[in-house]
Amino acid sequence: MKNTIAVLPGDGIGPEVIAVAVEVLDTVASVSGHSFEMKYADIGGIAIDNYNDPLPEESLAICRNSDAILLGAVGGPKWSAQELSVRPEQGLLKIRKCFNLFANLRPVQVHAAAGERSPIKADRLRGVDIMIVRELTGGLYFGDKVESFEKASDLCTYSASEVTRVVRIAAELARTRRGKITSVDKANVLATSRLWRQVTSELLAAEYSDLEVEHLLVDAAAMHLLDRPSDFDVIVTENLFGDILTDEASMLAGSIGLLPSASLNSDRLGLYEPIHGSAPDIAGKGIANPYGMVASAAMMLRHSLGLPDAADLVEQVISDCLSSRLFTADLCGSNEAATTEAVGVALCERIRNA
Ligand code: IPM
Ligand code: MN
Repeated sequence: MKNTIAVLPGDGIGPEVIAVAVEVLDTVASVSGHSFEMKYADIGGIAIDNYNDPLPEESLAICRNSDAILLGAVGGPKWSAQELSVRPEQGLLKIRKCFNLFANLRPVQVHAAAGERSPIKADRLRGVDIMIVRELTGGLYFGDKVESFEKASDLCTYSASEVTRVVRIAAELARTRRGKITSVDKANVLATSRLWRQVTSELLAAEYSDLEVEHLLVDAAAMHLLDRPSDFDVIVTENLFGDILTDEASMLAGSIGLLPSASLNSDRLGLYEPIHGSAPDIAGKGIANPYGMVASAAMMLRHSLGLPDAADLVEQVISDCLSSRLFTADLCGSNEAATTEAVGVALCERIRNA
C-alpha cells in the first residue's frame, strides 16, 4: 500500500520537528512494507516570502491530492508587524476552512516521567487522560472583522448544525472511552454559548443518554482543569475556548511540545499538527521538542491512513523514549537536554528494533 502525504513544514521550529516526523514515517515504512510519498508545500510566512500568499493554490493542490496533511507550525516576528495585512496565521485558518476540518482532537495524557516536569502536583495528575475536542472552523476566528484605529470588532457566530456535528464527534469518542462528556461554554454571557448549550443538551439527551454529561462555564472549566484534571474524559468546546484550554492542559503533561492534534472533517482527509507554535526564539538551534509532532503523525496513521498498528508502534516508542528520560530542553535543564535530532534517531532505532 502506498499513501501520499502533504508535508507543510511552515515556519520557526516547524521544519525541524517535521523532519523528525518524516524520518519516523520513513522508518515505519521500511519495517512495515508500507510506502509513503511525501509531497512538500509551503504554508505561513515562508509561503508569504515565496508566493506573497500564506496558502498558495500550489499548496492547496498538493493537499487535495494527498491522503493526509502533516503540518509543522506557522508564524514569526518577521511577518507579524502590525501594519502587515497578510499574516502567516491566515494560511492555517484557510486550510482548516478549505477542507472543512471542524473537529480538532487534542488528546492530553500524562506520561509518568514527563509529568514530573508538570507544575501541577503529582497526586492531581494520576489517571489524567483527556480528549479535548475543539470546534475549529467557526466562532470568533472566522466572523466578520472590523479594524480601524478607533474601533475594532470580531463577530462570533455559530449555527445549530455547526454545534451538532462537533458535539456528535465528541460524544462518539466518549462512547469509546470512559463515557463522560463535558461541554464548555459561557452561557451566562454569550448568545452563541446559550445556543451551544441548548443544542448540546438536546442532542445528548436524545441520542447519547448512556453518557454522563456535564456543562461548565469556561472560567470554571479553566479552574477545574487544574484542580481535578483526572475527572475529565472528553471535553467539547468552541474554537477560542478550545485554543486557550488546550495550552493550559498541556501543562498537565509537562510541556506544550508534547501535545499532538488531529483536525478532521466528515471524510477521511485530516490535518495533523502539534498544538505548539513556531517558537521563533529557539528556531534553528536544533533543540525543539519533536514529540508532539511525531505523536501527530501517529494520529495520522490511525485516523487518515487506517494503520492502527503503525500508530500504536509510534506511540509506544514515544512513551519508551520519555520513560528513558530522553528529554529536550523544554522538559529538563539545557545541560542534560537531548537535541531534536537525537530524539529522532532514538525513535527510529526503537522502531527498527521493535
Ligand atoms: C493553535 C494555534 C493557532 C490557533 C494559531 C497559530 C492561529 O494557536 O493551533 O492552537 O489559534 O488556532
Ligand atoms: Mn493555540
